[in-house]
Amino acid sequence: RRRDEAVAAVLGWYRRAARNLPWRRTRDPYAILVSEVMLQQTQVARVVPRWEAWLERWPTAAALADAERHDVLGAWVGLGYNSRAVRLQDACAIVARDGWPTDAAGLRRLPGVGPYTAAAVASFAFGEAVAAVDTNVVRISERLALGTPEELLPPDDPATWNQAAMELGATICRARDAGCERCPAEPWCASAHAVEIRPRAAPGTR
Ligand code: ADE
Repeated sequence: RRRDEAVAAVLGWYRRAARNLPWRRTRDPYAILVSEVMLQQTQVARVVPRWEAWLERWPTAAALADAERHDVLGAWVGLGYNSRAVRLQDACAIVARDGWPTDAAGLRRLPGVGPYTAAAVASFAFGEAVAAVDTNVVRISERLALGTPEELLPPDDPATWNQAAMELGATICRARDAGCERCPAEPWCASAHAVEIRPRAAPGTR
């Protein structure tokens, strides 16, 4: 199956070549949720030190739930809308009381947790076979034209696939620069070499 071959090639590439990001080395749902909320608005390189400092200061959902809101907002400066930090703390208060929902449907009910974040935490922390669909993943599945994001998801390793699809979209199959010559899925991709690589310079601008 072409789809299975393409997915296997992307998984192999991810295992060999992915960036070594600290939240990929944990299955703690709290640590993963913090990373995903930070990454909604802030670039990976800027998130890494902030995520590490955050987890040192508040290592668990219960610790964050007990923190002063003022301190939480202070620690969020530079990471985007304050409301995200407020909802993260509110979500942790619910989790400290009720425990973690262990699937995407349950996670979705926490404040500030949308479909993408719920699927990311459910697959990375709990191994649930759900596709974490962000704009990168939509773009990749549209370009590959081998199925929907849900159809591409390999049921035996959804977490690695979700990370790998994000990694491919962030580092190779980018919106304006498709990088087909470096892409592990190029042999199976409907759009390889056909995608608009760069917006053309207007005549006379160079
Ligand atoms: N952006 C959103 N989630 C991410 C993740 N888990 N790794 C890298 N970039 C991301």
